[in-house]
Amino acid sequence: MEIRSIRGMNDILPEDSILWKQVRDTMHYVLGSYGFREILIPVLEETRLFQRGIGETTDIVEKEMYTFEDKSGQSLTLRPEATASIVRAYVQHHLYASGKVEKLYFWGPMFRYERPQKGRYRQFYQIDVEAFGSNDPTLDTDIIASLYDFLTTLNVPGVTIEINSLGCPNCRPAYHKALKAYFSDKIDKLCPDCKSRLVRNPLRILDCKVETCHELALKAPNIHEFLCDTCKNHFQGVQSYLEDLHIPTRLNPMMVRGLDYYVQTTFEAVSENLGAQNAVAGGGRYDGLVKQLGGPDIPGIGYAMGMERLIMILQDIRKEPLSWPCDLFIATLGDKARRYGITLASKIRKEGKVCEFSYEPKSLKALMKLANRLNARFTAIIGEDELQRKEIVLRNMATREQTTLPVDDTLTEKITGLLDG
Ligand code: HAM
Repeated sequence: MEIRSIRGMNDILPEDSILWKQVRDTMHYVLGSYGFREILIPVLEETRLFQRGIGETTDIVEKEMYTFEDKSGQSLTLRPEATASIVRAYVQHHLYASGKVEKLYFWGPMFRYERPQKGRYRQFYQIDVEAFGSNDPTLDTDIIASLYDFLTTLNVPGVTIEINSLGCPNCRPAYHKALKAYFSDKIDKLCPDCKSRLVRNPLRILDCKVETCHELALKAPNIHEFLCDTCKNHFQGVQSYLEDLHIPTRLNPMMVRGLDYYVQTTFEAVSENLGAQNAVAGGGRYDGLVKQLGGPDIPGIGYAMGMERLIMILQDIRKEPLSWPCDLFIATLGDKARRYGITLASKIRKEGKVCEFSYEPKSLKALMKLANRLNARFTAIIGEDELQRKEIVLRNMATREQTTLPVDDTLTEKITGLLDG
């Protein structure tokens, strides 16, 4: 019986993974230019890290975690996001000891037991970006700018960066109170989830997708009327620096984000090219989290980008599919030619060229077909008779121009010269 992949967990096949590679190359390039350094973290963590880090009342912790006991009876969870893990690593390895702003990034799969649909999977990939050690609005600005640069470098169309401030532990309680007062006499109209949110986390009612809740939320008190002076000044700073950098943003006072650790600045990149799951990236400031997870009181801010959603947009705008590069295909006819060809392939690869080889004996016609399927720019045709005359033929697959080259010590150099053309 055929065994298939688990629902909501996808294979990324080579015709698609080439675009993934391009996105990852851009990630290293853009984030590298800001001084971010790559960190690698485990897929599994102790369950309590996410319970404490993400928040007990979030959808992720309440309903979506892949949690199990290992053979020793310890409760482990497949990471549903990377922030909690990176904070754990930051604390565990005393990365704060350097005293500098530590800027880290990571790329890898996350796991959430959600209902799969377009743009929502149970295993999905995130590019995760985190920075620790400053509460200054310039850091918020750089973080948002890195996201904007990323998207513009990839020519992602139709994306808006929405920003908001969620206040801090000083000013948010008053806002909670106002929300509770506003929604309490409308409780009958709230969905079952929002009824319980009203008691535990009224902020989350603001981004409920249920129509009746959404309509009530539109007229709810606005967070910006409740921000304390510190939060107000901080947010004004972020907005004005972003303006200086000409980064277009839209203020969305209803954006509350689905994780509990956020304070002050939050942001999302939303796309008009996606359906219901329109957030390509989301993030914000989490100043109390390092302390909450056992470290010193060090502020932090970051975001995560959903790779599948980004790829969906890029695939939509791409006219021709990308293909893996192949500079040269070595087509051999006969045993002696194969023996010569496999050595030639090795020499060409050492020159930094992508070189494919005709592993299976085939006719010339079949070999040319294979060269086209491999998208080879050039094909070196090595025939038995030609080899005896100490010659090979190099064919430019686009122009069909053929050049006869002598088999001598300069052959590799001549071929690479023609490939660089
Ligand atoms: P998040 O909003 O839960 O934030 O996820 C960030 C992005 O991951 C989303 O905008 C979306 O593109 C993608 N994503 C989330 N869930 C799924 C899914 N089931 N299928 C496909 N893509 C998905 C976080 O994870 C925070 N840790 C971000 C952060 C970093 N905040 C501060 N630092």
